[in-house]
Amino acid sequence: MIFYFTGTGNSQMVAETIAKYIDDRAYSITGAMKRGAYDYALGIDEPVGFVMPTYYYGIPVHIPEFIEKLHFDHTPRYIWTCLTCDGLTAGAGGMLDQILRQNGYIPSARFSCPVVNNAVVMGGQMPVRNVDALLDRAQKRSANIAAYIRERRMGNFDDCAGMGADFITQQHYGRYKNGRGTRHFVLRDSCIGCGICAEQCPADAIAVGGGKAQWVKDKCYYCLRCINNCPERAISYDGQDNTYTFMNNRVEGEP
Ligand SMILES: Cc1cc2nc3c(=O)[nH]c(=O)nc-3n(C[C@H](O)[C@H](O)[C@H](O)COP(=O)(O)O)c2cc1C
Ligand code: SF4
Ligand code: SF4
Repeated sequence: MIFYFTGTGNSQMVAETIAKYIDDRAYSITGAMKRGAYDYALGIDEPVGFVMPTYYYGIPVHIPEFIEKLHFDHTPRYIWTCLTCDGLTAGAGGMLDQILRQNGYIPSARFSCPVVNNAVVMGGQMPVRNVDALLDRAQKRSANIAAYIRERRMGNFDDCAGMGADFITQQHYGRYKNGRGTRHFVLRDSCIGCGICAEQCPADAIAVGGGKAQWVKDKCYYCLRCINNCPERAISYDGQDNTYTFMNNRVEGEP
């Protein structure tokens, strides 16, 4: 059983690719939280996996709530995690392991998978090039991760953590956890009020009123799906130019 959170599809692609290779099922954490679906029955010796993006060298802010509410009919014996990223997870995998332990789970294996950077409008990011090659590489890596899971390998296989992982996370994660202000999302006149962003926001932070998108919560998860998925490119971060957007086109849309 695999649980994934995704903003722009990378973590969904990795979760579904691994699921295909180990003959498993991948469930959306967004869908589960929206439906209040927290109770799951596991098969005998069924592994449990968690896949999600790295945000500011840590994990998406709502994951602890999901793990706290999660309930299985029996304790899973093999638990693995995989952080998708742009190349540096730092202390994110350790943070996720700690949340699991706090909730009585014993993580068995930790993985990471660089995919494509979806933070295309933050910090003057360059446009993403060679998307297909990057997605191919990530799917190959997912197949390798699946082989490790099949063999029930134990250990820390996150080779994107880099040097001084916990220190990097300590330095940066607070800006995400305490920030996440939706006031940074600036709507352009080109918004046609189609409602896609509101329907698709995992945090239910957007509504359409008066024919335009508006943010109805002060803070959100910062998944950047709204910016990347708007057909009119009508949302900018702090007014930055976002000529480039990224959505993973190897997965079907999310609930
Ligand atoms: C707010 C934000 C912060 C991010 N921080 C990191 C980071 O610390 N390290 C990294 O390698 N990638 C970082 N990324 C890139 C994402 O982790 C990466 O693109 C991920 O695969 C996106 O997954 P998704 O498509 O499932 O949402 C960040 C992206 C966002 C939106
Ligand atoms: S911001 Fe984009 S996705 Fe949202 S309602 Fe406007 S046009 Fe549609
Ligand atoms: S408002 Fe945008 S960035 Fe925030 S959670 Fe919703 S879709 Fe993601």
